[in-house]
Amino acid sequence: MFHTDPAGPDRAAVDVTAAARWLDGQVVRTPVLRSPAIDRLAGARVLLKAENLQAGGSYKMRGGLYAVSRLAAAGHAGVVAQSTGNHAVAVALAARRYGLAATVVLPVDAAPTKVAQARAAGARVLLVDSDTAERLAVAREISDETGHPIVDAYDHPDVVAGQGSASLELIEEAERAGTPLDALVLPVGGGGGVAGACLAAAGRPIEVYGVEPVGCDSLARSLAAGRPTPVRPVPTIADGLRPSCVGELPFAILRSRLRGVIRVDDEEIAEAFRLLLMELKVLAEPSGAAGLAGALRLATDGALPAAGPGTQRQRTVGVVLTGGNVEAELVARLAAPARLREEVPA
Ligand SMILES: Cc1ncc(COP(=O)(O)O)c(C=O)c1O
Repeated sequence: MFHTDPAGPDRAAVDVTAAARWLDGQVVRTPVLRSPAIDRLAGARVLLKAENLQAGGSYKMRGGLYAVSRLAAAGHAGVVAQSTGNHAVAVALAARRYGLAATVVLPVDAAPTKVAQARAAGARVLLVDSDTAERLAVAREISDETGHPIVDAYDHPDVVAGQGSASLELIEEAERAGTPLDALVLPVGGGGGVAGACLAAAGRPIEVYGVEPVGCDSLARSLAAGRPTPVRPVPTIADGLRPSCVGELPFAILRSRLRGVIRVDDEEIAEAFRLLLMELKVLAEPSGAAGLAGALRLATDGALPAAGPGTQRQRTVGVVLTGGNVEAELVARLAAPARLREEVPA
C-alpha cells in the first residue's frame, strides 16, 4: 500500500512531466479531435483526446508501461495487478515488452474483450469476485507467494503520473493551437487519471472535473466525508468506473485540487457514446465516453467556467476519451435507435 504524506503528496512524488517525457515515443501520441455538432451541444469548443486509439485500447497503457518499466529496471522478474480490465491489459502488455511474468486478477464479469487481450499478451489471468477488496486480497496473496510487486491500478505514483501524461499532452496541444483549456473533464474509477490531470493542470487556470456514474460515486462521497469512502457500486455500462473506493493517493491529490464531480447516468453515457460514434466515427467504450457525458452535463447545467476575465472568447473544454475496449454486442445495443434498443437483449 502506498502511504501518503500527511501534508499531501508533492509534485516530486508524482511527476507527470517526467512520466510524459519518458512515455514520449513509447506510447501512441493520440490525436485531439473536434466535432461541430458536439461543440454546438456543449456551447463551447470541445477538444477530445482520443485515448481509445492508445496501445492496448486505453490510457491505462501510459501508467502501466511507466510503472512496469521502472520495476523491470529495478530487477523484478514479474508483476501482479488487479483491475476491472484495462489496467490488466496494460500491465500484461508492458510485462511482455520487458520479458516479465504477469499475473492479473479481474472480476468474474469482466468484459470478455479485456480478458482476451490480457491472455493474448501472455498474462496469467485469474477471475475472482467482482468486489475490489476481494481482488486486492487475491493480488496480495500472489504477490506474497511470488515476490512479484503489485502495480496498483490507481494507488501508485508512477501510474498516476503516467495517466496524467494524456492530460498534459492535451493541455499543451490546446495551448499550441491558441485555445488554452478552461476546463478538463475525465471519468473516475479509482481516481488515478483525474488525479494525474490535476497535477498536469497545476499552475494553469484550468478547472478539472471528475465524472462518476450515479451509484458508483465513491469520489463524490469521499470529498464530502473528507476521507476515502467506499460504496457498493451499482451496475453500470461503464465497467471501468466501478471500483468500490477511490484510491488513497488520488484522494490526497484530488481533495484540494479538483473543481468538482459530475454524476451521470447510463443513458447520458450511452448518448455520449452515440455522439462519438456517429459524429466523429470514434468507438469509445462507455467508461471512455463518460467524460464527454460529464462535459455535456456541465454545459446543460450552465456550470462551464467563464473564458478568462473580460474576454469574449469561446470557452474551451478538454475531455480525455479514456478507452475503447468494448464488446460488439454492447456496441450494437448502444448504437441502436431507442425503439430497437428495447428489443436488443442486454
Ligand atoms: C476506459 C477507462 N476510463 C477510465 C477509467 C478510470 O480510471 P481511474 O481508475 O484512473 O480513475 C478506467 C479504469 O479502468 C477505464 O478503463
